[in-house]
Amino acid sequence: MKFFIDTANLKEIQEAYELGVLDGVTTNPSLMAKEGIKGKNNIFKHYANICEIVKDGDVSAEVIATTYEEMIKEGEELADLHENIVVKVPMIKDGIRAIKYFYDKDIRTNCTLVFSAGQALLAAKAGASYVSPFVGRLDDVSTDGLQLIEQIVDIYSNYDFDTEVLAASVRHPMHLIKCAELGADVVTCPLSVITSLLNHPLTDSGLAKFLSDYKKSQE
Ligand code: E4P
Repeated sequence: MKFFIDTANLKEIQEAYELGVLDGVTTNPSLMAKEGIKGKNNIFKHYANICEIVKDGDVSAEVIATTYEEMIKEGEELADLHENIVVKVPMIKDGIRAIKYFYDKDIRTNCTLVFSAGQALLAAKAGASYVSPFVGRLDDVSTDGLQLIEQIVDIYSNYDFDTEVLAASVRHPMHLIKCAELGADVVTCPLSVITSLLNHPLTDSGLAKFLSDYKKSQE
């Protein structure tokens, strides 16, 4: 299972990389805006900086365009930035056409804003490298986001699609654990969700006891 972090914050990406378990980064226009990155040149430079930190990991860079022709143009520019850029394309009709175009050109894509099994099937048919069902945002509207992950993993397992299931909008450790149980290929979440996996009170008390016993034995 791959761990991606969902942020455009370079400090957090560096911290995740240093932890040694980071496989990639996803961003979106809201996350870029949160970091105050403005203007196409700065945004592109920021993507290149992220790629440098993540080294071999994939970095999803989202197109702003919503028409086929514009998505192709923007996606090709993004893909030219670095070999690890994955062009993030929204799940709309022109997006599906664009994903097919990119597939034929060997440009990898992440189909984003996926909220149904039918959308995930279309993304796989078009040749998306990743499909991003949004777990947390479905939970937000009283719909079981994890059930969608289960459904997509199940459907894909019937066929030979190369599309990887990237569980997105993963908001807490139980989302992540459940996605692992369900066989999602990738999760993307804030760094805090990954670091929270470290925590267990029995680990803390166990370590404290080991250290105090060691200290006593040396007196
Ligand atoms: C996916 O790639 C999105 O960037 C992201 O996971 C959305 O998460 P949110 O619903 O917590 O904003």
